[in-house]
Amino acid sequence: MKHLTSTAILALILAVPAGAQQTSDIVVPEQDTQVTTDFPGISDAARAALDAKREGRPVEAEDWMVAAANPLAVEAGARVLREGGTAADAMVAVQAVLGLVEPQSSGLGGGAFLVWYDAATGAVTTLDARETAPLDAGPRYFLDESGEPLDFRTAVVSGRSVGTPGTPRLLEEAHRRWGRSNWGGLFSDAIALAEEGFIVSDRMAESVAGAADSLAAFPATAEYFLPGGDAVTAGATLVNPDCADTLRQIAAQGAGAFYTGEIAADIVAATRTEDLPGLLSMTDLARYRVIERPAVCYDYRGHDVCGMGPPSSGAVAVSQILGMLEHFDLGAMDPQGAETRRLMGDATRLAFADRGRYLADSDFVPVPVQGLIDRDYLAGRAELLRGNDALPEVAPGEPAWDHALLWADDLREERPATSHISIVDADGNVLSMTTTIESGFGSRLFVRGFLLNNELTDFSFRSHANGWPIANRVEPSKRPRSSMSPTIVLRDGAPVLSIGSPGGATIIGYTAQAIIAHLDWGMDVQQAVSMPHLVNSFGTYQIEAGTWAEDLVTPLGELGFQTNVTALTSGLQAIALGEGLSGGADPRREGIALGE
Ligand code: GLY
Repeated sequence: MKHLTSTAILALILAVPAGAQQTSDIVVPEQDTQVTTDFPGISDAARAALDAKREGRPVEAEDWMVAAANPLAVEAGARVLREGGTAADAMVAVQAVLGLVEPQSSGLGGGAFLVWYDAATGAVTTLDARETAPLDAGPRYFLDESGEPLDFRTAVVSGRSVGTPGTPRLLEEAHRRWGRSNWGGLFSDAIALAEEGFIVSDRMAESVAGAADSLAAFPATAEYFLPGGDAVTAGATLVNPDCADTLRQIAAQGAGAFYTGEIAADIVAATRTEDLPGLLSMTDLARYRVIERPAVCYDYRGHDVCGMGPPSSGAVAVSQILGMLEHFDLGAMDPQGAETRRLMGDATRLAFADRGRYLADSDFVPVPVQGLIDRDYLAGRAELLRGNDALPEVAPGEPAWDHALLWADDLREERPATSHISIVDADGNVLSMTTTIESGFGSRLFVRGFLLNNELTDFSFRSHANGWPIANRVEPSKRPRSSMSPTIVLRDGAPVLSIGSPGGATIIGYTAQAIIAHLDWGMDVQQAVSMPHLVNSFGTYQIEAGTWAEDLVTPLGELGFQTNVTALTSGLQAIALGEGLSGGADPRREGIALGE
């Protein structure tokens, strides 16, 4: 059944005008620096990988490869792979170290989505380890007494924003399904770094300095990140014995040590902040589970582009962008041309209009995934791009759907934090995992050596708009909508690319562009992840400062786009599979690709 005819009327009312970018007042530390941290003690191979990135060259390997946001984390994963571990084993080691050395982006207190290509079966599996709302939460969770949404920044820096973490259970579940190495040993690098100390990187130090005011809100957080009142500095050695103790317990007892007992009790207690306390309980933690979901795959020019479905909007939106753009010969078009960027920008806006209307946790609301990526539906949406100028406004479409429900739009952005891991092991298994605590430093609550997420602020604060319900409203035990887009691309059933990025709502644009750069424009993976960004999700064309993209400000303005030159700090990691392996890491952050 198609939507009611009133949909069209509502769509006009709720249409998103060009330039109507949704903003909030939260300040997330951002910088567009190249890597400058020295990372003393890393291997010659890791140093060579940093050099390759600086020179814009991909890293090549034969057997295995790991790419992540920090060389220390990559080296931990490489050790596991070198010793015969699988991509799942290596991921556990990488994530354990990332939580320590890139604590602002991901860790034990957060959640993640994982896409897995299994070499033995050829199957693609997706695991959802998204944070969940407390059982006691309801539609008024982010509303004040008069029914108005809470101030966004106030809600972030509070216990109210914290969802039940999913990452520890994901590590265990991935290891249970696909691991081979001894579980406890996968934490040894992280425990050693936590106990003996690690060198604070430039990016971590800049992030701490940029968030110092909010990190000062909670004593335990301030004590670790602002010792003696001053932000930790790049090059300083930081020890985290509490994190070592937490990791030791998980290594010895499994993830249950995190979800029950003293660690769980401390998490619950920490969320009971004086202002805006949360409602998490021991029951929420004890009942947390990782959910296997159907992979969302789209056939783009002979490739299967597979990723994470709801509660992520990532794979649906990336598929929609590709599905509209395949009606144009992008390969013959200039990647730096205004016409190319008109098509890419407005395709992304159209995908975001659908995302705002339809995407949410499909265990709680019906989501028309197949309708949204249906070829005929996307051909119709692509017709909207046939003009010469920017679309003056975009509105959600009407995918074929068995549910005549009508939702109001939720056009909130996720903030740019998060981290991405891509791994290929010697057996040919491929992993793509995007991992997050939401904003930089999450809720800022620091418990037992790790930060707690603020993922619940990815829900719509309002439950209704204009009398219609919002699909992404808060409900008990629901998972908030995400933009994370961990992706594996296959050709004739064989994996050819693992890719993904941090970046909040811009993740979708970053990932779609890098896939197009690699598949349509023939760029190697390093070129594809390094390419300057132009992203238009909500009406304002965001243009990466200090790059050739700035040359497009005037031409795009003449086409009718509002533009905003800004830092666009993606953190793409990608591994291409062909004759051998070829890896690229985003020059905007500190990561590397490393393989043998
Ligand atoms: N917290 C970022 C996302 O889930 O998209």
